[in-house]
Parts: sequence; structure tokens; C-alpha cells
Amino acid sequence: MPLKPVAPIQATRVTVRTVSFADLADLMEVNGDDEVTRFLPYASWRSADDAGAWLTRMDGLVESGTASQLVIEHRASRKAIGTVLLFKYDEPSARVELGYVLGRSWWRQGLAKEAVAATCDHAFCELGMRRIEAEVNPANEASNALLRGLGFVHEGVLRQRWSGRQGTYDSNYFGCLAGEWRAPGCTAQESP
Ligand SMILES: CC(C)(COP(=O)(O)OP(=O)(O)OC[C@H]1O[C@@H](n2cnc3c(N)ncnc32)[C@H](O)[C@@H]1OP(=O)(O)O)[C@@H](O)C(=O)NCCC(=O)NCCS
Repeated sequence: MPLKPVAPIQATRVTVRTVSFADLADLMEVNGDDEVTRFLPYASWRSADDAGAWLTRMDGLVESGTASQLVIEHRASRKAIGTVLLFKYDEPSARVELGYVLGRSWWRQGLAKEAVAATCDHAFCELGMRRIEAEVNPANEASNALLRGLGFVHEGVLRQRWSGRQGTYDSNYFGCLAGEWRAPGCTAQESP
């Protein structure tokens, strides 16, 4: 069974919803910024072709049934200000990996925390995930802080896990289990 589509998730200041072609102009601002893509596995977008190639790649993942590519829409301005990706869905283990990006002018306002928390609520409570995991470069202070602040557990370091634009670097591995997630109204429980 493919990963179920994510219905729009309403948080206080943002909505997390499925990406569409119309979002690419807004997302160009986000992903065209070298500060934003510094720790990401892809280069900054420089053109509409780069944006289109990204969407095609994400559509392919979604069609494989293993991913949901979402955007963070700022409700007051109706702008797409970032993205959340659920990927590497493993159905037998009810496990999925999490990634997220926010435009630089929106940093440090609690917006990523709001969007990622709402996505985790949805993934645990509506999609029935048992475990959500994430990999973060140890030098990425903001991302490490975000996950810790949400209650993800730092489970270990994978040494020299990646070689890429940032040279060779370690990965912090984080995980959160359904039974540990304490969202208001969420009855998610770890499956036996
Ligand atoms: C990671 C990212 C999404 C965080 O977005 P943000 O909206 O600034 O984060 P928030 O304001 O919601 O803050 C969440 C927590 O992280 C902390 N934090 C945010 N930026 C921080 C920084 N630069 N240094 C230390 N702590 C930081 C906040 O204080 C907050 O802590 P709390 O939970 O204890 O209150 C954003 O920096 C980003 O898009 N970075 C580039 C893309 C990226 O690296 N993605 C992750 C790849 S693994």
C-alpha cells in the first residue's frame, strides 16, 4: 500500500499541504538561497528549470508510494514559505523519514517547529506511523535544536556517512516513537 496522501494540516500560523506546480515561484525564494541549502543534498535553484526538475523528482518519489512532498503555507500571506518531506516510507515497519526547509526570512519565529509538529501529529495520529526518523549534519545547529525541541531522541552518530558538497561528514540520527509523541488529543501508541 502506498503512503496515504496527506490532507491539508492546519496549524496556528501555517498550513502544511501537498505541493503543486503553482508553489514553485515562492519556493524559488526558499531554495535559491545558499544559506538555506547549505546543509541540503541539492544545489541552490538558479532557474525555473531547476525548480521544475525538483518537482519532477519529488513527483516520482510520491508516485512510488514512499513519499509525500508537502509545503508550508503561511496562512496570513498565502505564501509557500518552506517544505516538509515524508520519505522512505516502510509500510511493514510503519516508519517514515522526515526532512524540512524554511525560507531564511522566516527563521527563528517558531514556524518550522509548528509545521513539523503538525506533520508529526498527522503522521502518528492519522497515518498510523510507529516511528519517525531524521538524519542531520551535526554542524546544522538549527535542525538539531528543532528535533530536540520536539522531543526526538538522538540515537547515535553515523560516522563519515556522507560525502558531498560539504565534504565528508557525520550524521546525527534522531528518532521519535508513536508512544513517545505527546500531542494534545493524539492517541498514537506504539504498536506491539
Ligand atoms: C532548520 C530550520 C527549518 C529551522 O527553522 P526555524 O523556523 O528557524 O526553527 P524554529 O524557529 O521553529 O525553532 C525550533 C527550535 O530550534 C531552535 N533554533 C532555531 N534556529 C537555531 C539556531 N540557528 N541555533 C540554535 N537553535 C536554533 C529554536 O530556538 C527552537 O528551539 P526550542 O524548540 O527550544 O524553542 C531552518 O533553519 C532551515 O530551514 N534551515 C535550512 C534547511 C535545513 O537545514 N533543513 C534541515 C536539514 S536536516
